[in-house]
Amino acid sequence: MKKIDVCPTPELLHLYRLTGKIVVVVDIFRATSCMTTAFAHGVAKIIPVAQLDECRALQKQGLIAAAERDARKAEGFDLDNSPFSYMNPELIGQTIAVTTTNGTLAITKSIEADQVLIGSFLNKKTIVDYLHFMPNDVLIVCAGWKGKINLEDMLFAGAVVCSLKNDFFVEDDSALSALMIYEAAKFNMIKFIANSSHVRRLHGLGLIRDIEFCLREDVYDVLPVLENGILVKMKTVK
Ligand code: MLT
Repeated sequence: MKKIDVCPTPELLHLYRLTGKIVVVVDIFRATSCMTTAFAHGVAKIIPVAQLDECRALQKQGLIAAAERDARKAEGFDLDNSPFSYMNPELIGQTIAVTTTNGTLAITKSIEADQVLIGSFLNKKTIVDYLHFMPNDVLIVCAGWKGKINLEDMLFAGAVVCSLKNDFFVEDDSALSALMIYEAAKFNMIKFIANSSHVRRLHGLGLIRDIEFCLREDVYDVLPVLENGILVKMKTVK
């Protein structure tokens, strides 16, 4: 039976074998929600980089560059990290360099996996259907916040475990914990995470509509996948 596991923060990734697995990186607020939205609205490629200077170097080569630190747009870059910024028709067909506080670091730390996918509530069904179809064990890597666990990423991980638990062996307690968080929250997720650290941080910046949008389920049928360090939309999902 295939196995599914959850890595609650990239700080614990050294405890997990990535080879042979499909990794789903999740950063609900807001990196992977932005990336999913970007591909759904026609962005062609996203280059995720962990450091600001890497992103700046790509910008100097002529790429559009998005950079966020502490939930704010970093000085001197073109785009912030709100999904609404990626609904711009001017971005159709473009390649965008992206660095965020946690999400892009989680992606770059997962490259040993057989496949790295980008997951969010916005494309949850597409992710689940694909994982169900593929033969690989699965590891959901939560981006967290600066090495610490956050609630929303564990909530998404639990939603995926809940959808797959009849066909995957739920290997350890982090996956079981994520499942229990989702079971407790599923009827009113926004209320459940109202006091979480990142919701409070985003609220403090007036980004309420980002919070609400990033929790919407199955809005987009897109499957972003990492190919040679570049995120693209998977063409034939099945
Ligand atoms: C992250 O990288 O943790 C998020 O994308 C931060 C944010 O944009 O709120």
